[in-house]
Amino acid sequence: MRVLLVAPPGAGKGTQGAVIAAHFNIPHIATGELLRDHVARQTELGLLVRQHLDRGDLVPDEIVLDMVAEAMIAAKEGGGGYVLDGMPRNLTQAQALYRIARTLDMTADVALHLQADDDELIRRLLARAALEHRADDTEDVIRRRLALYHEITHPIIDWYAGRGILVSVDAMQPVERVARQILTALEAMRPLLDHVPEHLRRPVDLTGLGAAFGDG
Ligand code: AP5
Repeated sequence: MRVLLVAPPGAGKGTQGAVIAAHFNIPHIATGELLRDHVARQTELGLLVRQHLDRGDLVPDEIVLDMVAEAMIAAKEGGGGYVLDGMPRNLTQAQALYRIARTLDMTADVALHLQADDDELIRRLLARAALEHRADDTEDVIRRRLALYHEITHPIIDWYAGRGILVSVDAMQPVERVARQILTALEAMRPLLDHVPEHLRRPVDLTGLGAAFGDG
């Protein structure tokens, strides 16, 4: 299983990425985590990107692409599955990632879009700020991250819809319910992935699922 998570800050990329990785026994490649680890270890790369992270700005494309290419090669050696969390963030990254993945014969099966309202995302991240100490979880920086998401990242959703690999989920529901819907959808798709060529696939919208069963 090869999954990309494309979602705003606080929507649950890290939370659901870990669930998917554990369920399918695949590596969880989280670009934000990898970058924060470099900052914590004060590596050369960490010193280079620290200010970008602190301000909520995107790190230059070539830095994240190199990092992800390395992680994808390791994932290939581990069996070829992956859940990639936090990448791509713009169309340049999406297209470059596609080229890298094609070279490795590991293009994504699913681009998972977690949908949630800005007010809820801000509430979640401020709640996390009270418990953990991520430098970018201040209200100003959270708003900057959200603005960048809407302006630069969200438009790539259409690119994945066009490729027929987009699966949209309502991430306003409790964690366990979001996880259940994601895993059910991925398990249902799994047997088809090797038989349905990408050009015959269509986007899947699960955002009405909760309401359809009286949860809305
Ligand atoms: P990154 O680490 O990717 O941060 P982000 O996108 O801002 O997302 P978060 O980690 O804040 O949220 P999440 O969606 O993972 O949600 P989570 O599960 O943690 O990136 C950080 C920075 O790195 C970027 O700003 C940029 O500088 C740089 N960067 C990274 N990738 C890059 C790239 N490709 N290109 C350039 N720069 C890049 O959940 C959040 C909170 O909500 C948690 O407390 C959780 O418990 C809670 N929660 C989750 N789901 C639910 C739910 N359903 N209901 C209630 N609470 C929930």
